[in-house]
Amino acid sequence: MAQFQATASAPVNIACIKYWGKRDTKLILPTNSSLSVTLDQDHLRSTTTSRADPSFEKDRLWLNGKEEDIKDGGRMATCIAEMKRLRKQEVEDKQPNEPQVVSLFFVTYLTLKLTSCPKLSSYHVHIASYNNFPTAAGLASSASGFAALVSSLAQLYALPVSPSTLSLIARQGSGSACRSLYGGFVAWEQGTRPDGQDSLAVQIAPQSHWPDMHALICVVSDDKKGTSSTSGMQRTVETSALLQHRIAHVVPQRMAAISAAIKSRDFDAFAKVTMADSNQFHAVALDTEPPIFYMNDVSRAIIALIVEYNRVSMEKGLGRRAAYTYDAGPNAVIYTLKENVKEIVELVVKYFPQRDGFKDVFGLFGEAGVQGKVVE
Ligand code: ADP
Ligand code: DP6
Ligand code: CO
Repeated sequence: MAQFQATASAPVNIACIKYWGKRDTKLILPTNSSLSVTLDQDHLRSTTTSRADPSFEKDRLWLNGKEEDIKDGGRMATCIAEMKRLRKQEVEDKQPNEPQVVSLFFVTYLTLKLTSCPKLSSYHVHIASYNNFPTAAGLASSASGFAALVSSLAQLYALPVSPSTLSLIARQGSGSACRSLYGGFVAWEQGTRPDGQDSLAVQIAPQSHWPDMHALICVVSDDKKGTSSTSGMQRTVETSALLQHRIAHVVPQRMAAISAAIKSRDFDAFAKVTMADSNQFHAVALDTEPPIFYMNDVSRAIIALIVEYNRVSMEKGLGRRAAYTYDAGPNAVIYTLKENVKEIVELVVKYFPQRDGFKDVFGLFGEAGVQGKVVE
């Protein structure tokens, strides 16, 4: 009996211009565009295996070894249903055409076998996913998680589809996941269409455009956050006046400014906008009723350290040389150029030696270069 199984990994991405707010909660359409850097797959990643079998009685999911419910009509169910629909439309309805060689990742024999199974989309799937970093702790596990999910199903179904199509589906699992289908510097354009077909990720520049860009991951806490991104941003949309100002008058200019900074490899400008946007995102969380606090005292102390580092750097005429950013959690990501990595790591370790509040998850720091594409 043939086995229909595929495994794929996807890296996290950490936003410089933050997505926070949905205009459509079902399709996951955002209230503003966003921009992120995809980290190196060697460091923070989700790895997902999908298997289809005629004997399976329902779709099932295991996350980090523990079975999770797949809620009817929920995001996981939507992504699986969309991938099955694509399999039917792109492969099975077209048979008995010649099988196509559709995936660079696949050995040809497997591709032939998969494309020639006429009923694969009707089989239930079992999916197992592992994160090699803390889940739901503000390190973008939902981004790598749903990107790995759609990538593994795309391989299982031998789909001849582009990263851009997969980004539309990953977006319906978790908004930030649409950006993890590309490497390098990636924008999620909010789009205007009610059906969401123009709300997708586009690569602004590949990793090779700015190979010296590095990200230092400071794990302040690996605890699960108290307020998930989904419920936090919904509350912000419902209660924050500052969010409306941000959407209308702040983000559009910042998207333009950071894209220009990336194109011209202007680190000072990149850092200025990145830190300002992290600050405003956390201000918007605080402006929510009841308020949401994602950062803690250690997070704020790391901000103070980077501010001081940049003050000295600017005094020397070198401009800003480090940029902190925090997602919905207390863990810091510090962007800097390769030449400064050693100095910054030494500085942070000096001021934050192994102490309560710092969890040594994969070494105190994961150092990640940004990387190329997950799916070609
Ligand atoms: P984070 O800051 O880690 O992205 P979120 O609150 O956005 O936190 O999302 C966390 C949720 O994402 C988890 O509770 C789980 O439902 C989902 N998730 C995380 N990792 C995976 C994965 N590898 N595969 C599928 N879903 C995942
Ligand atoms: C602060 O993509 O996790 O990390 O779409 O509800 O799953 P859902 O939310 P999610 O939100 C990410 C918020 C952020 C900023 C960002 O990644 O742009
Ligand atoms: Co998330």
